[in-house]
Amino acid sequence: MPNFAEGRLRAFRRLLKRTPVYGVYKALGHHPDYWYWILRGRPARSPHLLMVAAMKGRFDQIYSIEYVAELANRPRKKFARYPHIRIFCGDSRVVMPEVLALLKNPALFWLDAGYYGWVGKQGDEQRLSAELEMILSHPYPHIILLDDARGLTGQNGIPSVADVKSYVESKFPQRQVDVQFDILRITRRT
Ligand SMILES: C[S@@+](CC[C@H](N)C(=O)[O-])C[C@H]1O[C@@H](n2cnc3c(N)ncnc32)[C@H](O)[C@@H]1O
Repeated sequence: MPNFAEGRLRAFRRLLKRTPVYGVYKALGHHPDYWYWILRGRPARSPHLLMVAAMKGRFDQIYSIEYVAELANRPRKKFARYPHIRIFCGDSRVVMPEVLALLKNPALFWLDAGYYGWVGKQGDEQRLSAELEMILSHPYPHIILLDDARGLTGQNGIPSVADVKSYVESKFPQRQVDVQFDILRITRRT
């Protein structure tokens, strides 16, 4: 059941589709969603609908993992006609081996699941390191991006950027960790 703001946005889209300015609106790409998020502090649509939609023409395969069944079902329906997109439902720590088993080449991982608390829930402190270890131990030199690097505060059981860097670079010497644009990047050591 859409809430009031979502309902208004959908009604606005329906109205817009009937007008000549729709082409201009489409040309704006994801900017309306971006500004909705900035102004209201939360996304207008299920986050997977934004990110997967934005990336759908740029990757050969897209796998997205969502814990909340309802949030997984919406993008599943929306992207059902795209055979290269799969939405998994479950805890990423549990589902990750299934996703890794599908990979036959280096992949780009976007870790964006609120590793230290999501919607008020206490995060599992081992989840990030468990996922990093699974991905980095896989035979391909995957690249990992972790957004909101500023959340790595080093307080209340949360590691700091320096902790993650030292953990990754000591355990996986072929990798390097940097932060740019608030995104922690784990890449092949150059
Ligand atoms: C910021 S959204 C990211 C969505 C996705 N990166 C995108 O942009 O399409 C974070 C999502 O992670 C989900 N999440 C939280 N903990 C999770 C877990 N342990 N396993 C899988 N998903 C989880 C939340 O339900 C939420 O929908």
